[in-house]
Amino acid sequence: MKSVKLPVSGPHGEAGIRLGRRAFGKTLLASALCSALPAWAKRDDTLFTFESVPLSAQADSVVLPKGYRWRVMAAWGDALDGSGQRVPTDASHSAAAQGACFGMHHDGCALFTDPGVRDAGLWVTNHEYTDDGLLHASGMANWSAEKVAKSQAAHGVSVAHVQRQADGGWGLVAGPLARRITAQTPCAVSGPAAGHDLLRTAADPDGRSILGTFANCAMGVTPWGTYLTCEENFDRYFVKKGSVTAAEARIGLDDKGGGYRWHEFDERFNADRHPNEFNRFGWVVEIDPRDPSSAPIKRTAMGRFKHESATVKLARDGRVVVYMGDDQKGEYIYKFVSNARFDPSRHDRSNGGALLDDGTLYVARFPNEGNWYGSGNWLPLIWGHGPLTPANGFADQASVLVNARRAADLVGATPMDRPEWIAAHPANGEVYVSLTNNSERGKKFPLDGANPRSSNAFGHILRMREDSNDAAASAFRWQVFAFAGDPQAVKSEHRGDIQGDWFGSPDGLWFDPRGILWTQTDVSTDKLGKPPYERMTNNAMFAANTETGEFRRFLIGPRGCEITGVAISPDHRALFINIQHPGETAGERNDPARPQAVSTWPDAALGRPRSASIVIWREDGQPVGV
Ligand code: FEO
Ligand code: CA
Ligand code: CA
Ligand code: CA
Repeated sequence: MKSVKLPVSGPHGEAGIRLGRRAFGKTLLASALCSALPAWAKRDDTLFTFESVPLSAQADSVVLPKGYRWRVMAAWGDALDGSGQRVPTDASHSAAAQGACFGMHHDGCALFTDPGVRDAGLWVTNHEYTDDGLLHASGMANWSAEKVAKSQAAHGVSVAHVQRQADGGWGLVAGPLARRITAQTPCAVSGPAAGHDLLRTAADPDGRSILGTFANCAMGVTPWGTYLTCEENFDRYFVKKGSVTAAEARIGLDDKGGGYRWHEFDERFNADRHPNEFNRFGWVVEIDPRDPSSAPIKRTAMGRFKHESATVKLARDGRVVVYMGDDQKGEYIYKFVSNARFDPSRHDRSNGGALLDDGTLYVARFPNEGNWYGSGNWLPLIWGHGPLTPANGFADQASVLVNARRAADLVGATPMDRPEWIAAHPANGEVYVSLTNNSERGKKFPLDGANPRSSNAFGHILRMREDSNDAAASAFRWQVFAFAGDPQAVKSEHRGDIQGDWFGSPDGLWFDPRGILWTQTDVSTDKLGKPPYERMTNNAMFAANTETGEFRRFLIGPRGCEITGVAISPDHRALFINIQHPGETAGERNDPARPQAVSTWPDAALGRPRSASIVIWREDGQPVGV
């Protein structure tokens, strides 16, 4: 499909904004010509019908529309088996105890159900990082090997059995497949970088067995029934006091790390002594939730960067396509396209993942930089092609994948405002990307300032459509679906152009099977309630109709939390989300002497705020949202 330029009636061009959104795709030019404006201002209840939660409802609780209920399903420290047991309220439990229950700071998640089963499934959730001020009774004082082990045990992924309860909510139940995967769980390695020199260490001279996964942010689900967990801010766990190479610096290694202090008692994280250990993280990791004896597999063909999400689609010919963001200021959007085609009669959980080992990694370029709609293309990161040669330090495809950011730099990828989640529409082929925000206003990125109403303090949501509506296409068209912002902001660039309820810092982004685009915010704790976010003190979740452009506030979270992760039951009567880091302080780590200083969510009696997976349902038992 050729790119069609939209008529824009000036920098704020209302006609341009409206037509651009409504008419994206084939009807674009026709709509532009007949100027049939959609009724943006009118509420449209065709996709969802709930009453918007007012901004004034911000509280230290989960606030939902009238007629909705919620309950904690799986909180940090809860036993995996639904026995109701949990770690003590003062967090005096051991590392071993932590490794046997739900971890901390829940993020991406998914519900796996069997065909025909509506009321039970496997709940899989990431545990992205820890607040060591809350994790240990005495916080980070008297730092020890035991505290490092406990922090590592609170990271990773949980798998647990869940079931619908009599009242319509869901809860944990005992089952044989429950397990924890932590920063100490042995993982396999596959794809072009498996066994490569760059991945070999003294403890693993073959470069094919890596201890653990951590910094697990968002995720993906494969058509063959496995879970993809994404290693994001892994660099913050390593410390290197000596000189850092250009390749190490490009992905964030420095002499400080993120304050996790693992390197003090676990030598792997001392990058002076074990530089290759750093190369063994930053991957997409495949987990088979139905086989507790299976090792997670680091799939290296999808590249190494700060992986946010891994959204899987099938190309027209059945090849597997995985869309991925690299969440850092000025980083890129990637996709992987497999060489072989997915065949449900041939590929199951035991071998489907091999499709992810053989294919091409691409990075996105937006040539119409400085505009806010246009065309773009996918640049392949293939060793020997263009600048990806030994002359530039690339010895082979494995070195391209380990250093994917630098390879993307050299081929001319377009830097973005922190790509977070990527959502694929269930029916029309569109792909949406949340670009959460970017504090580096002075360092202008190409899509910033394209519209005077945009502000990278609030972020935006991008909409892409692949050529021929084929996920494997080498070119696409794009536009900004929504510039986030507060319409009452003092500065015009902070106002955005959201139709309906406003927000900032979009992060979690996911289509349910009905086509509702669920959007979750992650305004950082040091910005909540302060200009230009003075009217937003709590993070929230919205439903969006991508036909009309309307966003409607569905949920407000408790104090100091981020809303992230979303899944729905097969009958749409239960929605699951994660409340991450309730009670977080601006410094990211709580004072262990005052763990409830910011929040007591979900229950003051639990001694400290706890990240949790919650279930949301309607009192009348009808589908959520409509
Ligand atoms: Fe883990 Fe970019 O959020
Ligand atoms: Ca995120
Ligand atoms: Ca975020
Ligand atoms: Ca966050």
